[in-house]
Amino acid sequence: MKISIVGTGYVGIVTGACFAEKGHHVMCVDIDQSKVDLINKGTAPIYERGLDDLLKKHAGDRLRATTDLTDAVQQTDLSMIAVGTPFDGNEIDLTYIKNVAKQLGQALKAKRGYHVVVVKSTVVPGTTDEVVLPILEESSGKKAGVDFGVGMNPEFLTEGEAVNEFMYPDRIVLGGIDQPTIERQAELYQGFPDVEVLRTNNKTAEMIKYAANSLLATCISFSNEMANLCAAIKDVDVVDVMHGVHVSRYLTVPLPGKQRAQPPVVSFLSAGCGFGGSCFPKDVKALAAHGQKHHVPMDLLNAVLSINERQPQQIIKILKRQFPSLQGVRVAILGLSFRPDTNDMRESPAIPIIKGLVREGAVLKGYDPIAMDDARKLFDSNELEFCESLAAALSDVDAVVLVTRWDEFKRVPELLKGKDPQPLFVDGRRLIEKQQMARYAGIGF
Ligand SMILES: NC(=O)c1ccc[n+]([C@@H]2O[C@H](COP(=O)([O-])OP(=O)(O)OC[C@H]3O[C@@H](n4cnc5c(N)ncnc54)[C@H](O)[C@@H]3O)[C@@H](O)[C@H]2O)c1
Repeated sequence: MKISIVGTGYVGIVTGACFAEKGHHVMCVDIDQSKVDLINKGTAPIYERGLDDLLKKHAGDRLRATTDLTDAVQQTDLSMIAVGTPFDGNEIDLTYIKNVAKQLGQALKAKRGYHVVVVKSTVVPGTTDEVVLPILEESSGKKAGVDFGVGMNPEFLTEGEAVNEFMYPDRIVLGGIDQPTIERQAELYQGFPDVEVLRTNNKTAEMIKYAANSLLATCISFSNEMANLCAAIKDVDVVDVMHGVHVSRYLTVPLPGKQRAQPPVVSFLSAGCGFGGSCFPKDVKALAAHGQKHHVPMDLLNAVLSINERQPQQIIKILKRQFPSLQGVRVAILGLSFRPDTNDMRESPAIPIIKGLVREGAVLKGYDPIAMDDARKLFDSNELEFCESLAAALSDVDAVVLVTRWDEFKRVPELLKGKDPQPLFVDGRRLIEKQQMARYAGIGF
């Protein structure tokens, strides 16, 4: 099939590259010429495992990038909208979506034949039918359901695992105003035979995405609230408590030999210094605001958000137990991205932790295996000394704070071994076993 994808951010470029791998012809559209140039050269504009290989393989052949949206619509049968949907402080900001819908509508004016427009961005229920569809009709002068279809296909990929998750999805949700819209999308996804495909209306498709993200964010805030209580009670470690919770038959499946299958939800039911990223915080905020707009009290999601906003401060609290004044205390921050295997720093808990420690007068070094260039855009060198290696970050510090669960940080016990004096190790993700460290502190005990 010939498709165009508008927006080549994390979702757009991964979607484009993966559909090209599945044999489709893809035109990626972005207003950012530098991204377009990189893609056409076969280079990924973001760090995502496996993406560079796909771009090298398909760029210039089945995958092309352009800034010309009209041409992309002319040359394709289906267009996906994959632009950002930030939270503006009060509600979801649909500026980018509306702009693209208008441009797509104008391009549809001259388009011969039936075309399908699919919203892939995460948008609050009602957006596709009540915002995007009317803009498309108005700017094209054509009729939805007659001249073009309007669908909604939410994306569930996780940054850092995006290519693999896109190629092997757990579900495909296809929303649409009518059967032809849904069937055209089903054709696009024919190359994914072993997966459940949910065919539904646009509002349900939109709501599924928010419900899924809200549930996982709730699991995280639940675990963090338990952790903070365990820490206050003393002699209770949240890791032991949550292990006792995980072995419930409702959460894990017992296997022969006292083993248990660890379902991935367990990683969300674990304590840490809070969730971040470009999705959970803004999506939970947008859904809570949307609920309020519909006069539905959203107490649970509001609590999830406030627990999460406070959680990075737990790190500072733990440090202050050992260093009542943080003035001049030298602290290494390990991990700057919001999760491992990505360079994405959007809403990373590292940001409030670093800002809070700077306010307290701590002297900071930072290291991240991938996100250093992105971090340089957020912090200046007075706030954070940027280290080239994990070993460099660990030298001459009073304390080490682990913020992101990068695998590389499992080497910290070995690298700190024999150092005298030993820095205090504050585990913001409970990645390291406490017995491995001379001076260990962490969230939740
Ligand atoms: N990042 C994720 O992990 C993830 C996962 C699932 C869903 N989503 C959702 O997908 C959507 C996109 O997220 P993202 O992280 O890929 O965003 P992003 O900010 O990384 O990328 C958006 C891209 O759209 C481009 N753009 C903006 N206006 C445009 C226009 N008029 N024409 C063409 N291009 C334009 C920007 O230049 C940018 O490259 C959001 O709604 C997000 O909530 C994101």
